[in-house]
This record gives sequence, C-alpha cells and structure tokens, in this order.
Amino acid sequence: MAKDLTNKIISLCKRKGFIFPSSEIYGGFKGVYDFGPLGLELKENIKENWRRNMKEVEGIVPFDSGILMNPKIWQASGHLSAGFADELVECKKCHKRFRIDELKKNFCPQCGGEVTDPRNFNLMMKTFIGPVEDENNISYFRPETCQGIFINFLNILNSQRLKLPFGVIQIGKSFRNEVNPKNYIFRTREFEQMEMEWFCSPKEADKWFDFWLERRLKWYEKMGISKDKIKAREVSEEEKAHYARRQIDIEYHFPFGWKEIEGIHNRGDWDLKNHSKHSGEELKYEDYYPYIIETSIGVERSLFAFLHEFYEEVEGGRTKTTKSVKESEVLLRFPKELAPIKIAVLPLLKNKEKLVGKAEEVYNFLKPYFEVQYDEKGSIGRRYRRQDEIGTLFTLTIDFESLNNNDLTVRDRDTMKQERVEIKNLKSYLENKLK
Ligand code: GAP
Repeated sequence: MAKDLTNKIISLCKRKGFIFPSSEIYGGFKGVYDFGPLGLELKENIKENWRRNMKEVEGIVPFDSGILMNPKIWQASGHLSAGFADELVECKKCHKRFRIDELKKNFCPQCGGEVTDPRNFNLMMKTFIGPVEDENNISYFRPETCQGIFINFLNILNSQRLKLPFGVIQIGKSFRNEVNPKNYIFRTREFEQMEMEWFCSPKEADKWFDFWLERRLKWYEKMGISKDKIKAREVSEEEKAHYARRQIDIEYHFPFGWKEIEGIHNRGDWDLKNHSKHSGEELKYEDYYPYIIETSIGVERSLFAFLHEFYEEVEGGRTKTTKSVKESEVLLRFPKELAPIKIAVLPLLKNKEKLVGKAEEVYNFLKPYFEVQYDEKGSIGRRYRRQDEIGTLFTLTIDFESLNNNDLTVRDRDTMKQERVEIKNLKSYLENKLK
C-alpha cells in the first residue's frame, strides 16, 4: 500500500507534467529527471519560499558561484579523498559493481558470482576543460554548492562590509556520480541544493546550530508538513560527513522509510582552514577562522516530500454526481505558497460564444497578476477534478448569470464551496485569499 502511494505519485507527475524521466525517447538516462511546466513552477515556489524565509534573518546575503571551479578546491575540501566515496565490490564473473548493502550473502545479486574486496568509488563527476583531455585539464562538477561560498569568503565579507555573524545563501545544481540512483527523484546524479552557510565565532557555534535547526524545522511546519512526518536525527560519529563536527539530519517519513531531506552541519573551521592552507590566502575574520553552521536541503527531495504530504485520494469521489460515484478522486492539497497554479478560469459551456468570450476576458485580466490557467474542454465536473489533481487553489466559473451580473463563482479546492464574486472586486478578493 505504502509503495503504492509513491507509484501513484510518480504516475501523476508524468501524466500531469510535473516530472519526466530524462532522455525517454532514447531509452532513458538513469539518475536524471526533467521538470515539466508544473514541476518547474512547484520547484520555483519551493525555492522562492526558502529564499524569502532565509532573508528574514538579519545578515543573510545571496550568492551564485560557478558549477565548475579550480579542481584544487576539491582537494582542499576533502571531496577527492576517501570521505566522499561509496565502498563497492565488483563481480568477478559479470563485472557489475555493487554497494556492499546490495549484496546477497557476499555474492553478486545479478549472477551469483564471487565478488572482489570492497574498493572506494569516488562520487565526483569528472570532466575535461578545453580541447585536450589529459590529467592537467581535469575539472569536476561541484557535488555541493557551498564550496563556491567558502572560497569567496573574503570577497563577500569585504565587498559587503559584513560583520560576524553573517550568512550566505546559494541555490544551484550539484552533481554526484551516485552508484545507485534510486527512489525516483530522491537520489539522482544531477540535483539542486539550497544551502545556507552561517559564519560565526567558534564560541557561538552551538547556539547558532540550535537556532538554525529550530528555524528549519519551523519552515517545514509553515509549508504544511505534519509534525508526525518529520524528525531531526542526531547523526553518529561513524556516519557523519567528513567535514562535520556535529550533524543533524532532518528526515521525512516516506513510504520507503525515514529519509534525509536536509542536513544541518557544524562544519567548524574545516573549510576555511583547509582552503587557507591549500591556496595560501588566509581566509580569516580578524585573527581567527570563523566556524560555519550549514543548512543544506535538496530541492527535489523536499519536493518529493511535499508531493507525498499533499497527495490525497478519495475513494468514490468527493462529489456524488452519478458519473463520478465509481471513480476515485485525486487531490494535491498544496498550501497556497506551493500550488503551481493558483487559479483556473472555466466557461460553463464551451460552445456558448458569450460565455467563452467573458471567460477569456477574465483570464487575460488575471494573467499578469497570478499563475492562472484557462480550460474549456470537458464537463465542468471533469474540469474541476482536473484542477484538483494538480492542486489549483481556486476555479472560477463563468455561467449565464455572469453575463447579466458581471460576476462569477469561485470554487475553493479544499471545501468545494462556491461563492459569487463581482468581477470588479475579483483581483482584490483573490489577492486577499492568496496573502
Ligand atoms: N553541503 C553539504 C551537503 O551537501 P549533503 O547531506 O551531502 O550535505 C544535502 O546534501 C542535501 O542535498 C541532502 O539532504 C539532500 O536533500 C540533497 N542531496 C544530496 N545528494 C543528493 C542526491 N544524490 N540526489 C538528490 N538530492 C541529494
């Protein structure tokens, strides 16, 4: 049943244009996904809400660094060594590679062959810069966005005339050559991160860690995630990332288990000290290396959690018209901040010129202000359900009364209650609702 839910979400995402598997017409490309019109709107809403929430904190500034950088950065950060690797074994017979946790009694899960001793497989995505493919031209696609912030520590500090504590936020793509991408968009090879790096004095690091953990948990609550679906887990010494003095993972209860969607890290002086050592440039504040508290969340992972949280299926349907009785109705109960489409405009009948004309007029009027769709195909009930399925908050229907009274009905996705609103008041009515 639980796995069933994830499969239903995956199918809805494809059908409605949230998410498509990459390179489908060429047989696919593992570990990468494409985002359709609705998925992209949803992603943008997540990012915008995160960004605005971050910027409420005094001392936060935005930043955007390159995806490709000098490879020495990854030497200094520790990503080219064993800390950022998966342990793999290789089957001596079919030569496929597996993570140790995938093995069946120490034999190849595919052909049953004997396997080699485990070896480290680094997760960095390698490429060559310029026309010559040799050792000197190797570079890497970043596996986390934050290193671009650390190496620009002095540029940001001095140009913005900042004082400690302050924070830098960045949203962007990261790449990891994951051995086993799985669970749809949960673990992929290309993904987006939203990271916040808070520079503070070592003495205050514990206090700021608590501050950010609490703030991040509140964000999920504000975005509508129920309390019993999210938890903070202290990560053990053995399991912690190589740079972390302390790590708490924020986990969401997916049907496939409790899984990390965000990491809160006390990175100490690991990054600034190592970059100072490797670059020869002292990345200090006054005479010391600040500590860094980091919050790092995946856009796709949180989006996947939101889809699970807000997906609802009502057996037999919510409306009891004869046609819909047999069906089950699907709803995405996105909060107003996340809904990709806020409003849909529907003429009651598509073959009545006057209704269509009026509906188009309303649609064109609202378009500059809201994310709005126009839909005239199919019965009105079917169109309501189509909008519920993608999480549209309000559907506006133009009926015959509208032509005389210059008004329309506004239907609320969750209550299905309808209210008549005069068109001249419509913009402020909707602004109020979406506030
Ligand atoms: N800078 C710290 C850092 O990158 P991380 O725990 O490795 O920490 C942070 O990653 C977040 O990035 C994760 O909680 C997850 O949401 C996302 N993430 C990491 N690897 C991912 C992958 N292969 N696919 C999708 N999201 C991933």
